[in-house]
Amino acid sequence: MKLENLSISLEVYQNESELSDDDQQLLARAAEQLKYAYAPYSRFRVGAALLLANGEIITGNNVENAAYPMCLCAEQTAMGAAASRFPDVPIVSLAVTVRNEAKLIDTPAGPCGACRQIISEAEDRHRQKISIIMRGESGPVFKLQSAKDLLPVSFSGTFLP
Ligand code: THU
Repeated sequence: MKLENLSISLEVYQNESELSDDDQQLLARAAEQLKYAYAPYSRFRVGAALLLANGEIITGNNVENAAYPMCLCAEQTAMGAAASRFPDVPIVSLAVTVRNEAKLIDTPAGPCGACRQIISEAEDRHRQKISIIMRGESGPVFKLQSAKDLLPVSFSGTFLP
């Protein structure tokens, strides 16, 4: 048996002002989007914003449903909007932030497993890495350079005919 050690580089910013202007602006757009979250069941709001290679910013928010499994994540609504409005334009970065109406979240909440798969496919489709910027309602900002850092040993279209 041979042991492969996988490592990821997680950038940790204690203060948002350490981020690039583009990243700060994207995070601000994600935070602005929290007000549009439809989260009457979980009371957990999620806002997302995508920066596209053509400079467009596409936003998304979670949209819940009384049939719980039908809930849409903020990342999914943003990725879906980008794929329908600008199908051929690569995504440069994704910012995600959250607000729990019941308690302060002061650590970044990473995208769920299903969203990681969707972001990973968008990278493969456009052959361009998507950096991922995460923040709680307050506290540090985490940044990763690629969806593959969130989803190592992943499934992809390369396995399919
Ligand atoms: N949610 C997201 O929007 N993104 C994630 O990556 C994790 C979870 C939403 C779905 C649901 O509306 C609420 O957060 C609680 O799970």
